[in-house]
Amino acid sequence: TNSFGQRLKLIDVTTSTQEEMRLLAEQGAPSGSLIIAEEQTSGRGRHGRKWLSPAGKGIWMSLLLRPELPLSCAPQLTLLCAVAVCRAIRAVTGVNTGIKWPNDLLVDGRKVCGILIESVGEDELIRYCVAGMGIDVNLGIEDYPADLKGIASSLKIESGRDCDRALLIGAVMNEFEKLYELYLEQGFTPIGHLWEALSVTIGKKITVKTARGEIQGTADGLDPSGALILKSNDGQNINIFSGEVQLG
Ligand code: BTN
Repeated sequence: TNSFGQRLKLIDVTTSTQEEMRLLAEQGAPSGSLIIAEEQTSGRGRHGRKWLSPAGKGIWMSLLLRPELPLSCAPQLTLLCAVAVCRAIRAVTGVNTGIKWPNDLLVDGRKVCGILIESVGEDELIRYCVAGMGIDVNLGIEDYPADLKGIASSLKIESGRDCDRALLIGAVMNEFEKLYELYLEQGFTPIGHLWEALSVTIGKKITVKTARGEIQGTADGLDPSGALILKSNDGQNINIFSGEVQLG
């Protein structure tokens, strides 16, 4: 079995834990290895964005996975990761986060956690995945630049109290390990159901920005591969494999 977080590297400052983990992965680090940084100077988000990662205020970490699966399964791991973090945050802090497809964690529309999964493959198989998780734990309002105010938030702002980062990290690893074993044994179906139950996207009117333009419709559910099924306004079912979802 995998023991998630048993192999642990703690770093004070780094550019990005994603880069640190890629190096370890290339050196043969085992599945379940975890790197946590107090601060990142070039934290990365999805779609080439920057990720605010001030010292001591959040959980900036990257987990290494080495599933023996086709590369096409990588999006399912993204959804699994969101379920693991969402369940851990709810259990430890009581903050009711919901998942916006594919893997943003929101509280009343404000983002408290982002997930970035980077997969390296060979011959259509996953060689390794680096699951990067950024959880805004104890940031205060004053930590956010103007352009993030109202868009991003922290568990402390939402719950009104400081949250123990070590406790939350442990809970995320436990959830992750449980769900990952379930996934390897039973495939994506049970994970997909858990994801749908925690989702704030399903059943809502959404706009999806894809490489081929914007599509509007209602989010209907996940297909067996983990793609989002969108019922477009003209009644078609469209499967979205990647893109950015806006509620409304
Ligand atoms: C997103 O755009 O929502 C994803 C954000 C992912 C941030 C985390 S913080 C730890 C890891 N290291 C990075 O540079 N990014 C991820």
